[in-house]
Amino acid sequence: MAHYFEERPETASRPGSVTLVLPDLHLKLETDSGVFSPERIDQGTRILLETVPPPPAGGDLLDLGCGYGPIALTMASRAPGATVWAVDVNRRSVELCARNARAAALDKVRSVHVDEVPPEVRYTTIWSNPAIRIGKAAMHEMLTRWLSRLTPDGIAYLVVQKHLGSDSLQRWLNERGWPTDRMASRSSYRVLRVRARPDVPGTADPAR
Ligand SMILES: C[S@@+](CC[C@H](N)C(=O)[O-])C[C@H]1O[C@@H](n2cnc3c(N)ncnc32)[C@H](O)[C@@H]1O
Repeated sequence: MAHYFEERPETASRPGSVTLVLPDLHLKLETDSGVFSPERIDQGTRILLETVPPPPAGGDLLDLGCGYGPIALTMASRAPGATVWAVDVNRRSVELCARNARAAALDKVRSVHVDEVPPEVRYTTIWSNPAIRIGKAAMHEMLTRWLSRLTPDGIAYLVVQKHLGSDSLQRWLNERGWPTDRMASRSSYRVLRVRARPDVPGTADPAR
């Protein structure tokens, strides 16, 4: 069975588009088969974008698991002075996100495969609708890798469905030393706010 998180989706290309409408933003985004939620903006993504505070005006920001780019492009449009790293394992997603950023003239979006990000970059903000379906161990490894790259005062916002384990993820993050609370709760979604780990402020990268 094909998964949206495959590195090189083999499913035939079936281009489409979705419209992202937010109070401050109206964007048409190209989508395709083999990527996450190609028919519509995911409800969790929408809830995240409607609840997070504005990102810092500058610095490096991260959309972890960018898909075709609704989160990265919203970050870039709300923080035009910042560099927005849009990363994914799925190459079709990375390419779509890059195209969508170009079409929207958001030229500070860097859409790249996860292994192509310069390892020294540190993020003041991470927004993510994380790929829960890759499995717990893989997701924990992914979060460890990227949360360890928060700046000392950096914050990550993660949207997770309750039935996909938002409460246990919150517990795990706290146990691992990332102070985490629930910033918002809407429908069956929770938006978790994760602060940088005080003992490894933006230096260690234990998963690498
Ligand atoms: C739930 S989707 C969200 C996509 C997009 N941000 C959105 O809101 O429509 C999660 C994304 O994470 C990507 N992904 C899966 N494993 C990953 C990993 N180890 N590192 C980074 N991204 C990953 C998937 O390919 C997918 O595009």
